[in-house]
Amino acid sequence: MLQFESQPLADLAQSLRTVRQAKTFNNPERFIEGWYWAIRSKDLKIGQVKPITLQGRNLAIYRGTDGKVIALDAYCPHMGAHLAEGKVEGNGLRCFFHNWKYDDRGLCVESPGLDRTIPAKVRSWPTSETYGLVWVWTGETPRHPVPFVPELAGKDCDAGFGLGFRKNCHPNVVMINAIDAHHFNTVHNLPVEVKFEKQNLNDNAIIFSNITRGGEQSWFIKLIRPLYQNEITYKMCYWYGSTGTVTVGPDFLHFHIMFSIRLKADGKAEGQTIAITEKRPGLWGWLFNRIVLWITLRVGNYFAKGDTKLFETIKFDLKTPTLADQSIIEFIEQVETQKPLKWETWETVEHLS
Ligand code: FES
Ligand SMILES: [Fe+2]
Repeated sequence: MLQFESQPLADLAQSLRTVRQAKTFNNPERFIEGWYWAIRSKDLKIGQVKPITLQGRNLAIYRGTDGKVIALDAYCPHMGAHLAEGKVEGNGLRCFFHNWKYDDRGLCVESPGLDRTIPAKVRSWPTSETYGLVWVWTGETPRHPVPFVPELAGKDCDAGFGLGFRKNCHPNVVMINAIDAHHFNTVHNLPVEVKFEKQNLNDNAIIFSNITRGGEQSWFIKLIRPLYQNEITYKMCYWYGSTGTVTVGPDFLHFHIMFSIRLKADGKAEGQTIAITEKRPGLWGWLFNRIVLWITLRVGNYFAKGDTKLFETIKFDLKTPTLADQSIIEFIEQVETQKPLKWETWETVEHLS
C-alpha cells in the first residue's frame, strides 16, 4: 500500500509553483501542436468528403481516387462556402458554389467561366492513416509519426476500437488518471504499490514506468509474481498531453491500450479507446491478435468505468500536492514545455509569459 511521506518543503514549494504557473495544462483555449484523430478510415470512402471540426477548427476532409486522405480548411477562399458541400474529382475537391477546383495541396486549379484560373489557395494539413483512423497534424510539418507505443516503435500493428467517450473536463485532466498512483488503491481497489520513473521519449512524448515489484506482502502480488521476473509491468507514454498509451501484462505478453483525446468547446474532452498489438503472421497470428485485442479492450473498459462519475464534476486544482502526486507534476511540467496553439485558430501562442 502507498506510504504517505511528508514532502520536503523546498520540493513542495517548487511543485506548487509549477502547478500554479501552468499556462497550457488544463487551459480550455489551448492545445499542443501534434497529431489528432479526425475520423475513422472506414467512414471515408474513395470519393467522399466530410465536414470535421477538429480542435475547434473546421475542415473538409476527403479521400481522392488514389486513396489518399486530404485535409483542407473548410471555407472556400472565393466566398466562404463550406468545401464539404462540394464534390471530390480525381484527387481534388470542387466547391459546390461556383465550382472552383482545388488540388491536394489546396491550390485552385480551375475556376470555370473566368478567363484565367484564379490563384487562390486553401490551407491543407498533413494527414496519416494509422490504427484505422485518419489523423491530422495541426501544424506545418509533422515532427514525429502518429503516437505509438514505445515498445512497438517501427513495428506493424493490428488495432481494434473500444468505446468512444466524452468527459466534462479537459483532456489533460483525463490523462493524468493513468499516473495517479494513489487512486489505483482508492478507486480501483488494486492491492499494489506503484512508483513511477519518468523518461523523455522525444520533445512531445514522455514515459512513466513502474519501478517497484509491487508489494510482496500482498496476496495479489504473490498470485501474479510467477508472471513477472522483476517489476510489475505498468508503463504509460503520453503524447501532446492528450494521447496516452498504457502497457500492462505479464513478461511473456504485453497488452497496449491507447486513449486519444481531443479538446472540445468549453474545455471538454472527446476520446477514442484503441487496443494495439504487434502484427503476427498467418491465420493463427490473426486469430491470436483478435483475442489479445478483445482482452485489452475489456481491461481498458473496466478501468475507464471506475472513474466515469468523477470526470463529470471535477474542478482540477492540485492545491495540496503530496509525494504520491510527483508524476502528475512532472506531466504538467512536460506539457508546459511543448508548443501551444490556440484552440479554433491553431495559431501559435506567441507570448508564453
Ligand atoms: S465559394 Fe467556392 S467557388 Fe465560390
Ligand atoms: Fe482511474
